[in-house]
Amino acid sequence: MEAAQVIKVTNQMPYGLYIVGSAGDSDVNAMMADWVMQVSFEPRLVAVSFENDAHTLENVRTSRVFTVNLLSKEEHSMELASKFAQPYYGAKIKGRAGTAATEVHHKLEGIPYTTTADGCPVLEAAMGWLECRAEEFVPVGDHTIVIGAVLDGRLVRDAEPLTSSYTGWNYSG
Ligand SMILES: Cc1cc2nc3c(=O)[nH]c(=O)nc-3n(C[C@H](O)[C@H](O)[C@H](O)COP(=O)(O)O)c2cc1C
Repeated sequence: MEAAQVIKVTNQMPYGLYIVGSAGDSDVNAMMADWVMQVSFEPRLVAVSFENDAHTLENVRTSRVFTVNLLSKEEHSMELASKFAQPYYGAKIKGRAGTAATEVHHKLEGIPYTTTADGCPVLEAAMGWLECRAEEFVPVGDHTIVIGAVLDGRLVRDAEPLTSSYTGWNYSG
């Protein structure tokens, strides 16, 4: 297998771009995710594939709930979304040492949001959102697929959703 060729292809696979919200014991968190898809109509299920060391996954394992925020296809949405690509734990960024490694990023600080009854963040800027209850955790290599039953959702406003084709951002490895 030519890994470089394979990555060239996977980098061209189009995705939606979502902000997945979660609630920890003492903090809310949100992360950028491409690998989100609807996987069943009845019951209505959505799957998210999380890096095994994502803090969001840790939160979801404990609280069993998460939100999926859809942003609209606009430049200011890209600016907002970019804040959620950094990890909660500074140590997750390779090469970080000392205080940078022990830092935690409260990514939602200064960003307007409300919370669901279970405490998961819904961004004020979201054009729509889903609230899900984690039903299954499926280990898949370096990721874990969480299958969530959709509990609620709102289309806040009609807009074109943000996609990887628009941002040009890759989730590559
Ligand atoms: C364009 C893009 C798409 C991403 N998609 C995913 C994804 O689908 N699943 C995932 O676990 N991480 C994804 N990430 C990486 C997470 O956003 C990143 O690891 C984040 O640090 C995890 O945050 P947390 O530790 O606060 O949960 C993506 C990053 C970018 C830039």
